[in-house]
Amino acid sequence: MLSLWSATSDIPSFDALQGDTKTDVLIIGGGLAGILCAFELKSRGIDCLLVEADKICSGITKNTTAKITSQHGFIYDKITKKFGVENAQKYLQANENAVKKYAKLCKNIDCDFYEKDNIVYCVDNYKKVEKELIALQNIGYKTQIEYKLPVPIGIAGAIRFKNQAQFNPLKFVAHIVKDLNIYENTKVIEIRNNVAITNRGNIKAEAFIVATHFPFMNKHGAYFVKMYQHRSYVIAIDRNNNLDGMYVDEAKTGMSFRNAGDLLLIGGGDHRTGKQGGSYNELRRFAKTYYPENHEKYHWATQDCMTLDSIAYIGEYSKNTPNIYVATGFNKWGMTTSMVASEVLSDIIIGKKNDYADLFSPQRSMLTPQLPLNIGESVLGLVAPSTKRCPHLGCALKWNSAERTWDCPCHGSRFSEKGELIDNPATDDLK
Ligand code: FES
Repeated sequence: MLSLWSATSDIPSFDALQGDTKTDVLIIGGGLAGILCAFELKSRGIDCLLVEADKICSGITKNTTAKITSQHGFIYDKITKKFGVENAQKYLQANENAVKKYAKLCKNIDCDFYEKDNIVYCVDNYKKVEKELIALQNIGYKTQIEYKLPVPIGIAGAIRFKNQAQFNPLKFVAHIVKDLNIYENTKVIEIRNNVAITNRGNIKAEAFIVATHFPFMNKHGAYFVKMYQHRSYVIAIDRNNNLDGMYVDEAKTGMSFRNAGDLLLIGGGDHRTGKQGGSYNELRRFAKTYYPENHEKYHWATQDCMTLDSIAYIGEYSKNTPNIYVATGFNKWGMTTSMVASEVLSDIIIGKKNDYADLFSPQRSMLTPQLPLNIGESVLGLVAPSTKRCPHLGCALKWNSAERTWDCPCHGSRFSEKGELIDNPATDDLK
């Protein structure tokens, strides 16, 4: 089924590349992150070109819940503990700048943009809420703990961020791509000596941005160790109650709520890709219990890259790949982080100092408790028996009966029942 955004937007089409060409900056990947990078670079007068293997916004962007916020779960306590108060402050600034930039851009775009508060709640651990509040107070953010939600969920406490936003991402994209140089159905196979080899011709560039959701070059950067993927689900029911805000559980497997016109979007059912989880069933059970009179109008699922320390990887792809940059690992916060990425990467490319570049650098330390878990999962996947194996690195694929797909628990590649590639890092269909 189409997501609400796909069903209510009209995204323009672009031709495929015909033969060789050149540009200053080549952006690989036509999701929101790549498109915002192209938009920002163009606005700075940089010659750039974007290529997409399929159609633009055919991946994750069309399947989001489209919340624009600098409140990414209870992230500020985590960042303060690992990277210090100053970096937590920088994370807030980078994201608040992104929220403000959306507000400015969307003033002139018909994309259902509404300023809303964002509220992160915790169902069972008041101490956690308190710690997040203290971390926020330490970086100078004024808020307080609340104890009630306008949805039927009991909570230990919640924290509100004012003046955040929600929108329809595809209506937004449909507007901003109009003047960009884009080639669709143009798949980059590799980058060699400043030339991207595609299925349609070669593209010479001074710099490259890889914005392919999961980075497609496996030889560099070790992203398959530094990330795993997580699936989550959304149902839209015809419940006309105004929540006047966006609500999300701080726990990875919790639920989220927001309005979109007359609809109520309920998100959740999360699980690591290739593992069991609540899926649509969990959301439908919730809707049936608490909103039995209402009907489901849309449903969709999405997939997110999760990093080792909950901060995105934005910057140099690896130490050995000069002039290749990456934006990935948005940890479920792709709208705001895509905007952050477009600023950070545009600054790096034009040689301007960016205050947030070090914080998001993919070259930061990998030593986190998540690292051995990622490695362990890969080892298990490699030795597990299966009738189907993933063409990425050979892990055993698991059948996902809810979506009728073959999913890889190691790094999250997914394939249709017939074996066609749906989600990377694998780059080919099943044999
Ligand atoms: Fe890496 Fe399947 S995605 S082995």
